[in-house]
Amino acid sequence: MSAAAATVSPSAAENPLTEGLERLPVPATTLVIFGATGDLARRKLLPALYNLAHDGALPERFHLVGVSRREKPHEDYRAECMEAIRQFSRRTPDEDVLESLLEQVRYVPGVFDDDEVYASLAEVLEDFERQAGQPLARIFYLSTAPAFFPVIVEALGREGLAHRDGGGAEGPPAGAGEQDERQVAVIIEKPFGTSLAEASELNQRVLSVFEESQVFRIDHYLGKETVQNMMAFRFANGMFEPLWNRNYIDSVQITAAEDIGIGGRAGYYDRAGALRDLIQNHMLQLLCHVAMEPPASFTADEVRNEKVKVLHAIHAPSADEVARMAVRAQYGPGRAGGSEVSGYLEEEGVREDSNTETFAALRLEVDNWRWAGVPFYLRAGKRLARKVTEIAVTLKPVPHLAFSQEGSLGIRPNQLVLTVQPNEGVSLQLGAKIPGTRMSIRPVNMEFLYGTSFLSQSPEAYERLILDAMRGDATLFTRNDEVEAQWQICDPIVSAWEAEPGPLPQYEAGSQGPRQARELMAEGHAWRSI
Ligand SMILES: NC(=O)c1ccc[n+]([C@@H]2O[C@H](COP(=O)([O-])OP(=O)(O)OC[C@H]3O[C@@H](n4cnc5c(N)ncnc54)[C@H](OP(=O)(O)O)[C@@H]3O)[C@@H](O)[C@H]2O)c1
Repeated sequence: MSAAAATVSPSAAENPLTEGLERLPVPATTLVIFGATGDLARRKLLPALYNLAHDGALPERFHLVGVSRREKPHEDYRAECMEAIRQFSRRTPDEDVLESLLEQVRYVPGVFDDDEVYASLAEVLEDFERQAGQPLARIFYLSTAPAFFPVIVEALGREGLAHRDGGGAEGPPAGAGEQDERQVAVIIEKPFGTSLAEASELNQRVLSVFEESQVFRIDHYLGKETVQNMMAFRFANGMFEPLWNRNYIDSVQITAAEDIGIGGRAGYYDRAGALRDLIQNHMLQLLCHVAMEPPASFTADEVRNEKVKVLHAIHAPSADEVARMAVRAQYGPGRAGGSEVSGYLEEEGVREDSNTETFAALRLEVDNWRWAGVPFYLRAGKRLARKVTEIAVTLKPVPHLAFSQEGSLGIRPNQLVLTVQPNEGVSLQLGAKIPGTRMSIRPVNMEFLYGTSFLSQSPEAYERLILDAMRGDATLFTRNDEVEAQWQICDPIVSAWEAEPGPLPQYEAGSQGPRQARELMAEGHAWRSI
């Protein structure tokens, strides 16, 4: 896997975003962001739109509408968008592209539970369609607190904005026939419920207004290059498939470690915790990518059918099993980034008797033919030694050691590590002879780094996801049954933990996490160093 061999020059490289556009064209679109002045919109969504515009990936006719609470004129909102893009875009903005993207941006102020907002929004949408002389696809991005997801969806339904035809009190623009049906979709941010019951209720409410094919539930990990690369590695290379089962794979470890604490997010985090924040969604999705069967094709339903089968094969713990399968803890004081930091319970906004976990680890099994008996270890936490998200697949040791005892000392089982962040890439650990007169072996890594092998910059996850939603491709979004299957696994753990008051075990900030996590490991297994 030489980096040089895989290097693609920018001129030869296909643009990863515009590639395949002929297959799934992006229709003329109006994108409406609810929560348009929020943190996510400013840091991720607006910069993603700019970068799509920069790459020529947006349709020629593209309109942006922001909806949120505070009153302000369109011009002020446009200036805020420009500032956010200048501050957070991965590229220095080209002023012409920026001007043209935001030329017609509109802002609709109001509270989400007021029907007037939706009537005003309908007028703006119709106005754009009158100008265009044709129906435009409508994408509603719910970048709001989760409590507003059903409120907004139901209001869109009441106002007639969820329908592919008609739309708004005035119906379709003059000249539009049945064949001019528009695409209408809703993108829903995470978290999708905080329990199985909530997620099911939310699904019911959303699906009473939209069809499943119109719903795009975001799990932004699915937009990351390395996560998609897991499918490329597995299904575009013959060498892994014969090994990819319980006969050759010993265990799988998935880690999502952060070195930072909760920052100013106590209000959200103290009600969520590591299990709900990261494991229930992102990490179970990563597990699905490791464990799924090859889909017959890369269509949204084929891929998601295979992922759901994995989730259904995971044994959800009974209340008695939770203690054996799951560990939780909170960070205490320690050192991070070279300075002293406080423990979780001293963070501003955290309840002083909080039993919310900042670290969670699980040991799961996928009870099917391919994976029976292979443990999948998952851990996620804040204030750990460093920031890293990775999937490590460890192969079984060789069956017989032919070398002398001294020569064999450095032999380790092969390990394939996919790093999702930072430094996206793949590394394969092999045993190699140390140069010299003796037969001594030690592990070496064959590395593939995105930054070195592909000179083009990877798009941000939100760029890919917004574009896919506009194309109507839901492959990288979570389906209703997938979300519920994820909750089925996590619900018993959440319930068992909520029933037990604190205090929780503590781990030192900046460390490898709580020692209790080791107890989840089968004999001979150990957590990788973070
Ligand atoms: N921020 C992130 O990095 C991140 C990451 C992953 C997922 N998410 C998810 O993305 C969503 C948005 O998060 P955020 O961090 O952007 O939230 P935020 O910064 O609190 O922004 C909330 C937005 O909603 C508007 N708003 C609040 N109450 C309203 C009401 N009653 N009526 C109308 N507008 C109202 C606010 O408008 P005003 O400014 O006018 O008050 C603001 O535009 C959440 O579901 C979150 O879980 C966020």
